[in-house]
Amino acid sequence: MPFERYSLDAFRGDPKKHPLIERGWERRQVITIIFALLFYSATAILLLGLAVRIRTYAKTPAPLKIPTTPAPTSKGGVVLRLLREVVLFKSLFKANKWIWLFGWVFHFALLIVLLRHLRYFTEPVWFWVAMMQDLAVYAGFAMVAGLIGLWVRRMVVPRVRYISAPSDHLMLVLIIGIGVSGLVMKYIMHTDIIALKAFFLGLMYFDWQPLPEDPVLLIHLGLVALLMIIFPFSKLLHAPGIFFSPTLNQVDNPREKRHLAEWAARLEASEGGGG
Ligand code: HEM
Repeated sequence: MPFERYSLDAFRGDPKKHPLIERGWERRQVITIIFALLFYSATAILLLGLAVRIRTYAKTPAPLKIPTTPAPTSKGGVVLRLLREVVLFKSLFKANKWIWLFGWVFHFALLIVLLRHLRYFTEPVWFWVAMMQDLAVYAGFAMVAGLIGLWVRRMVVPRVRYISAPSDHLMLVLIIGIGVSGLVMKYIMHTDIIALKAFFLGLMYFDWQPLPEDPVLLIHLGLVALLMIIFPFSKLLHAPGIFFSPTLNQVDNPREKRHLAEWAARLEASEGGGG
């Protein structure tokens, strides 16, 4: 691999000169093991949890035709409608311009931040990820600004404050914490990105490498792992959930085609034609 590996072999002559021994090898080993196990568990919980949730969504019957009208009358139209929702947040735009602004800025910036992060998990870095690095520098600020806007609204608009549960606040604080710790690393207290990348590639190829022990990095990664763990049990599931919303994903064709849920069809068949 093209990046530095902290192999003890490289210092066979005088192991005491190895940078890890000078900085406290044992503590670093313990931190590496804790975070390696944390990320394996968090990934397993995220993937399994999402698979179970999506399976439940897919199997939940939609007994009635309930697309929000005016609704598309063809499958192509439904695809376009979902695209407009996912990319532009169209119904939110119609409902509330402020929430739309903060929400859209946060989600779009998050996408750019995450794509930018792909450089930590790919070697060689894909050309388009490398190309977007400079362009995406301000995405971190936009992401945190959008989140703060959403949080302030939860606190100052009485109607929204009334319906906000503690978890709504905590989720925002968690993602703000990830964003702020990332920005601190980027602009104030830098970490060893090469060693960090070696750690994550090492996790992926089951060839563990030491994790830098900078406190801000450990906070950033700890919060990310926490987010991965709670994602399948939280309201953040709206990300995959929107695709299963019957009001959005149904074709408006009840006059052309009789809508019959699977379980209703079985019932009709067992009752000999129904009625
Ligand atoms: C295992 C996953 C992750 C790793 C290894 C990681 C690592 C890092 C590192 C090393 C930086 C500093 C970048 C630099 O100095 O140039 C950073 C910045 C940042 N991270 Fe993460 N991060 C992870 C996940 C996330 C997630 C899930 C989010 C958002 C929810 C996030 C949000 C940010 C932001 C906003 C910044 C500052 C702006 C930027 O550099 O793009 N990170 N991250």
